[in-house]
Amino acid sequence: MTEKIIEVRDLKKRYTLGKGNHVDALRGASLEIRAGEMVAIMGPSGSGKSTMMHIVGCLDSPDSGTVTVGGRRVDGVRGTELATLRGSEIGFIFQGFNLIPTLDAVENVALAAEYAGVRRREAIERAEGLLRLVGLGERMRHVPSELSGGQQQRVAIARALVNRPSIILGDEPTGDLDTATSEEIVGLMRDINTRTGTTFVLVTHNPEVAAACDRTILMRDGAVEDHGEPVFDVVEAAEACLA
Ligand SMILES: Nc1ncnc2c1ncn2[C@@H]1O[C@H](COP(=O)(O)OP(=O)(O)OP(=O)(O)O)[C@@H](O)[C@H]1O
Ligand SMILES: [Mg+2]
Repeated sequence: MTEKIIEVRDLKKRYTLGKGNHVDALRGASLEIRAGEMVAIMGPSGSGKSTMMHIVGCLDSPDSGTVTVGGRRVDGVRGTELATLRGSEIGFIFQGFNLIPTLDAVENVALAAEYAGVRRREAIERAEGLLRLVGLGERMRHVPSELSGGQQQRVAIARALVNRPSIILGDEPTGDLDTATSEEIVGLMRDINTRTGTTFVLVTHNPEVAAACDRTILMRDGAVEDHGEPVFDVVEAAEACLA
């Protein structure tokens, strides 16, 4: 049985907007993701996808429900402990890259490792290795404005990987890219997933990105409507038959 790396049960989150005014962003959402899966989350705008990602990514906490990441309950965790957890277990790739404009590619990636307590020299080494891995060996000393959108997103992927997380969360990681570049970036993520076993959870509006994933979780009105075809179940069933 493959390990469940993310387990979300009956998650609820309400945003209060003022007097008697609120939005129920999550109304009892549940999902499970196994180690090594590459999963897409789709659903209409406002269905709670980003809220879900923020809570799973330890950037925010729920009103009720449970969240287990890498075997640890994180729903009750607050403040600095949440930040520590986030730093060690999870890498983020968001739309719009969020790279620091004055730093070159190596520095952008290395900085994330240094924040996590890695010594500068090792941080630089890791950054250079990862930039080669994402195909930017020739662009290491370029600042973001000297890189294309796809190249900037590659830097963001290298940065997400630098602390060797077991999970990468992407909220529309190809949202700002044209079709060809988007395909190239999702192909790169798939390749990293296969080679390293890193779990990927990607919120996307792009059906081609979803098609490159193992399955698609569909959210609607703050809940999970469809869990998609669990590929591992099929594999396990096949293995059981052969055994
Ligand atoms: N900080 C906030 N304060 C108040 N309401 C919020 C906040 N963040 C999200 N919401 C509301 O919660 C609901 C879910 O938002 P969420 O961002 O999770 O949706 P989404 O599925 O990611 O949508 P999109 O596809 O447009 O990114 C929406 O109705 C949104 O307006
Ligand atoms: Mg969103």
